[in-house]
Amino acid sequence: MGAYQIIGGIPLEGVVRIHGAKNSVLPILAATLANSGRYILHNCPDISDVSAAIRILRTLGCNADRFGDTIEIDSTKADRTDIPAELMCTMRAAVIFLGALLSRFGEASIYKPGGCVLGERPIDLHLLGLGQMGGCFFSEGEKLICNAKTMHECTVALPFPSVGATENLILAALGCKGETVICNAAKEPEIGDLISFLRACGAEIRGDGTSVLRIAGRRQMHGVCYRIMPDRMEAVTYLCAAAITGGYLRLTDVCPQHFTAVTEILRRSGCRIEEKKSEMTLQGGKLQSVSPIVTAPYPDFPTDAQAVLMSLMCITEGTAVFEETVFSDRFRHVPALCAMGADIQTTAHYAIVKGVKRLHGASVSATDLRGGAAMVLAALSAEGISRVNDTEHIERGYASFVQTLQNCGGQIKYIKG
Ligand code: UD1
Repeated sequence: MGAYQIIGGIPLEGVVRIHGAKNSVLPILAATLANSGRYILHNCPDISDVSAAIRILRTLGCNADRFGDTIEIDSTKADRTDIPAELMCTMRAAVIFLGALLSRFGEASIYKPGGCVLGERPIDLHLLGLGQMGGCFFSEGEKLICNAKTMHECTVALPFPSVGATENLILAALGCKGETVICNAAKEPEIGDLISFLRACGAEIRGDGTSVLRIAGRRQMHGVCYRIMPDRMEAVTYLCAAAITGGYLRLTDVCPQHFTAVTEILRRSGCRIEEKKSEMTLQGGKLQSVSPIVTAPYPDFPTDAQAVLMSLMCITEGTAVFEETVFSDRFRHVPALCAMGADIQTTAHYAIVKGVKRLHGASVSATDLRGGAAMVLAALSAEGISRVNDTEHIERGYASFVQTLQNCGGQIKYIKG
């Protein structure tokens, strides 16, 4: 267990290159298993979730090696269909290997996936869709055994546009005879990146960017060289870091059109943002609250940005009301922000944040990936010294986080726990 020690109150200034997207690279790594081939993936962030995905690929018989930000995978010799419990519990995205295994081998056995604790995170929607495609599931203790020898065309209507379920169904549909239609599919940019990757591999998929996807199954597919798109949540985190410290950051290798719902709120709060095609700058200023901030599926305000925006709203003038509609328990960072002097009241789905003049240093513990990042941001703006414990949550999703903040003048250092 590691910790960060942070001396707050220093405006961040500098240039940050945004890494490849965690939530793109994970399903794309799973997708390399769906078809036998050799793949070269560029712009892969060096984060622990990606290392876990590489371990899963290797366990299933693939060759997978990292060279800097490039990962090379040869999935031709994949020969196992069971993912051990200790690998499944490392992250939520482990469940996406299910669709890839069913597509290629018609069978899989998995355990309950891990990942951030944000309330109940069932996989019923994944299984509902896979069941309609012809999958049969039964449990053996903690293990879930899946058989799908005769996957067939069908129309699946998701009751909620689940990101993971949409990805799983897309991958499974590659192995189905005929055309699979997914209605009420998630529209997150990471789904678009997965589809672009699969299309480059020879898949025939229509409807990306809309809520109806049509996947033609059993197409001849092949390996490919592909570049992962930029991480919108990493970008949002650094924009909020600049805003909360009253600093100035220039982000490069970024896709501003992927998070306009967030930049709109940052602008309304008083930040000056300029955007070009793959660059943007944020100049912090006097902050005022923006309300309400309601999380919802893309293109609305993303739940993954809720915690870092909440840190920012803690020191604005006025009151901001957050409504969390995607996850049932995603205010776990609130007690830590309150320990730093924030004034926040919560109910199950709402958080009411009354701005205070200044936060102060405290010792807090990261509860999950984005909640942990929110605590770091709060600490960077706070008066005095803070300690953020359990930083392995943060390292699941941010590559060279400490180094990047240090390069921009942040007084942060890693302490071995
Ligand atoms: C993905 C992202 C995560 C983001 C989330 C929502 C990855 C690796 N993770 O997670 O960062 O916060 O999208 O944008 O891409 N649900 C069910 N049954 C299911 C599936 C989901 O009830 O079978 C519920 C979940 O409990 C949650 C909501 O649907 O309340 C959203 O989940 P989902 O969109 O599936 O998120 P993930 O794919 O887990």
